Amino acid sequence: MGQSFSIEDVPDMTDKVCVVTGANTGMGKVCATVLAKKGAHVFLACRTAFKTNPVIAEIKSTTGNDKVEFLELDLLSLASVTSCAETFKARKLPLHLLLNNAGVMASPFSLSADGLESQFATNHVGHFLLTTQLLSILEASAPSRIVVVSSMGHIITYGGLGLEDLNDPNKYNPWFAYGRSKLANILFVRELTKKLEAKGVKNVYVNANHPGFVATDLHRHAEATTPKFIADFVTNYIHISPEVGAVTHMYLATSPEVEEKDIRGQDDSHLFRILAISPRPQVPTAKPGHISWAARDDKLAEELWAWTVNTLKEKVPGYSGPTI
Ligand SMILES: NC(=O)c1ccc[n+]([C@@H]2O[C@H](COP(=O)([O-])OP(=O)(O)OC[C@H]3O[C@@H](n4cnc5c(N)ncnc54)[C@H](OP(=O)(O)O)[C@@H]3O)[C@@H](O)[C@H]2O)c1
Repeated sequence: MGQSFSIEDVPDMTDKVCVVTGANTGMGKVCATVLAKKGAHVFLACRTAFKTNPVIAEIKSTTGNDKVEFLELDLLSLASVTSCAETFKARKLPLHLLLNNAGVMASPFSLSADGLESQFATNHVGHFLLTTQLLSILEASAPSRIVVVSSMGHIITYGGLGLEDLNDPNKYNPWFAYGRSKLANILFVRELTKKLEAKGVKNVYVNANHPGFVATDLHRHAEATTPKFIADFVTNYIHISPEVGAVTHMYLATSPEVEEKDIRGQDDSHLFRILAISPRPQVPTAKPGHISWAARDDKLAEELWAWTVNTLKEKVPGYSGPTI
């Protein structure tokens, strides 16, 4: 797999339609900007218009591309996710890239509008619903890509996914909750890939990535739970910029190599580079990474899929399950 992919290597994206979740800031904003610069029609799927519209104006002005739009999406509300998918479907456009980038990390315990622990709801359940609702369009638009932004943090789990205690505030640990939600991202990618293969769909490429330790607002809750010397060390020696962090997203989202080398169902981590912090980790190089045993557990992936579908059937009126 590629060793030296950079943002400059992103190919021309004219006539491609892309949805990027959480695109009003951080790495999502970088990706939306790069995709627009390369000519794509880009939807910024975000929860607040007042935060997103100035970003859209900025992207239009810096890239000269007018096909940049707001798509309302609050992953903490399954009704909002359904409405987002319906709004997109009503446009009758193809969809070549769904970049599931939005996320929260180590936030204090809270429940989503549907009564689900908020990190799991945002990082996994909302994105599962969005992806499966848009899957038929992605299949019809193939070759197409789904990129699910996971994290090396998927290794921070205690007792697997902990689905039985998911919504119990007394059993809540903000870091285990993050780790479990990011483990769920990888299990979802692997199970979706398996299901697409079983259906004979060969050209919808689904992958997950770990972007590195990136200086973004994602760390806003971490300060409360991380000793200062660790936080300072991470900031000074480990953090990379959102522009560098977005390289791995963009590799999986756009590099022709993904199709040429049939890269699918993978977590494209660069863990080994993060550990090589001398003086800072190098630019992510889109090399396959190391995932935990739990992330490789096929049975756990099947269980998570079944649990998520059952939960959605219970919480979303009229939901009959994914079309796959
Ligand atoms: N930064 C890192 O070191 C790092 C490391 C590994 C993995 N990641 C992953 O990378 C992805 C991007 O993170 P980032 O570092 O770029 O973080 P960020 O700058 O905090 O951006 C996160 C984005 O997610 C959006 N979001 C949060 N909750 C949402 C909701 N309920 N509905 C819709 N959008 C929501 C945020 O929107 P608002 O502005 O409205 O909150 C924001 O646009 C995340 O999935 C994260 O887990 C990051």
